[in-house]
Amino acid sequence: MSMMKKENNLFNMYNRINLEKIDINAQPPTEEPARQYYFMAKCREWVKEFQQKNGRLPGACVTTFGCQMNARDSEKLRGILREMGYEEASEDKADFVIYNTCTVRENANTRVYGRLGQLKPRKKKHPHMMIGLCGCMMQEPEVVEKLKKSYRFVDIIFGTHNIYKFAELVATRLELQDPPLAASSVYNGKSDRMVIDIWKDTDQIIEDLPNERKYSFKSGINIMFGCNNFCSYCIVPYVRGRERSRDPKAIIQEIERLVADGVSEVMLLGQNVNSYGKTLETPMTFAQLLTQIEKIEGLRRIRFMTSHPKDLSDDLIEVMGKSKKICKHLHLPVQSGSTDILAKMNRRYTKEQYLKLVEKIRAAVPDISLTTDIIVGFPGETEEDFEETLDVVRKVRYDSAFTFIYSKRTGTPAAVMENQVPEDVIKNRFDRLLKEVQTIAAETCAVHEGTVQEVLVEDICDHDSEMVTGRLSNNLLVHFYGGRELIGQYVDVSLKECRGFYYIGEKI
Ligand code: 5AD
Ligand code: SF4
Repeated sequence: MSMMKKENNLFNMYNRINLEKIDINAQPPTEEPARQYYFMAKCREWVKEFQQKNGRLPGACVTTFGCQMNARDSEKLRGILREMGYEEASEDKADFVIYNTCTVRENANTRVYGRLGQLKPRKKKHPHMMIGLCGCMMQEPEVVEKLKKSYRFVDIIFGTHNIYKFAELVATRLELQDPPLAASSVYNGKSDRMVIDIWKDTDQIIEDLPNERKYSFKSGINIMFGCNNFCSYCIVPYVRGRERSRDPKAIIQEIERLVADGVSEVMLLGQNVNSYGKTLETPMTFAQLLTQIEKIEGLRRIRFMTSHPKDLSDDLIEVMGKSKKICKHLHLPVQSGSTDILAKMNRRYTKEQYLKLVEKIRAAVPDISLTTDIIVGFPGETEEDFEETLDVVRKVRYDSAFTFIYSKRTGTPAAVMENQVPEDVIKNRFDRLLKEVQTIAAETCAVHEGTVQEVLVEDICDHDSEMVTGRLSNNLLVHFYGGRELIGQYVDVSLKECRGFYYIGEKI
């Protein structure tokens, strides 16, 4: 442990010392991540000048839309901003606003345009303000065209594959480099200057860049990027690119450093963690990776998401059954209960196979909590198909489920399928599904009443500052009376009262 601690400090210090020592008047290095540290140092100089002129540091705000992958990417952006010297600010006060966008459903795009519209008058009033857009939505060429035409006040646009280049793009926009950088495309609109850099795909994974964790005691960790599944409704493979796994040594080292820095719970992230390792030079399975992670001393809880049912192996189930650290929770998106619709969705499992898988998992880990994603109104979904979905929900009895109305995503096979389901029919099915899901979730939640379980305390409660909130291994939320000093601690709590989807507990 003590060895690891030392190494971790050195690692952080190394980055910092490096930044101070970098000769920003020399030409930028070509290799990564050294090149990005050079630009962070360059931006840091600019920040110092800003501070001298304005008597304060510039503030930045990164707003995340979408999933945990995006949340993790935002932590990387915040880490880079911190190295540049920016202070964290609320969105309404920030000099630099960054939206890390999602495009999985159409309404995610609509929200971003709405928020951008609200930023426009502020930017007009404060021309020094910078606006950056990144993430999945930026990988869609129509989006970038629309931004170039109608949202010219945006300063920087980049995608999912080159997030590591953030510092370089900021330096380009601030025109800190002479001669100007050729690497990024600079779009000169009529009056505004936009830096746009979108890559279609990449096989690069740049390690050792800074990041700023939201919580000191838990962290997400990317184990892979992209997706090769091409579910017919889903835009993710088009905007996140082909599947590629991180080197297991880099993953283990990152977790060891995090643990030395106070982290005890990790969430391994990937669009489909069950196919981890297939693209490695020396292939390995997700089950093997988990076995290695389990051995890390000081790590107490391991979570992962998302699992595709078709790739969930017997080996993985066995590892989960034996593990002392893997949390008793599995997110296993079913999407639909109808075998016909599942085929049209290109999910590559049947209703029966899914139910069998659930049985196997429950046999190996009896107290596991199961959650899922369900799409209502996929093209061609009949009332009978929908009944099949309700049937799966009743049979599996999920602890909770995310229910989505099907959203047509241009470029995906489902967008041009016949028999798109009318809106009113979808709405009716959605309401019925939600009711079923909520009723069952409340019942499954109630079974823990009276038990004593370990809670990892995460925060002070929003609605009562005398209470703290945390999670059980099975991911259920528990609120109980306690103070700030408990944050990050594991506390045994008696679960007194189930309130639908969370518990009121008592510290014992
Ligand atoms: N419409 C509705 N829901 C979708 N999802 C992915 N694509 C779509 C779409 N086009 C849902 C799936 C996935 C979750 C992250 O988002 O249920 O598991
Ligand atoms: Fe989308 Fe399917 Fe890949 Fe999940 S597994 S990201 S739903 S294509």
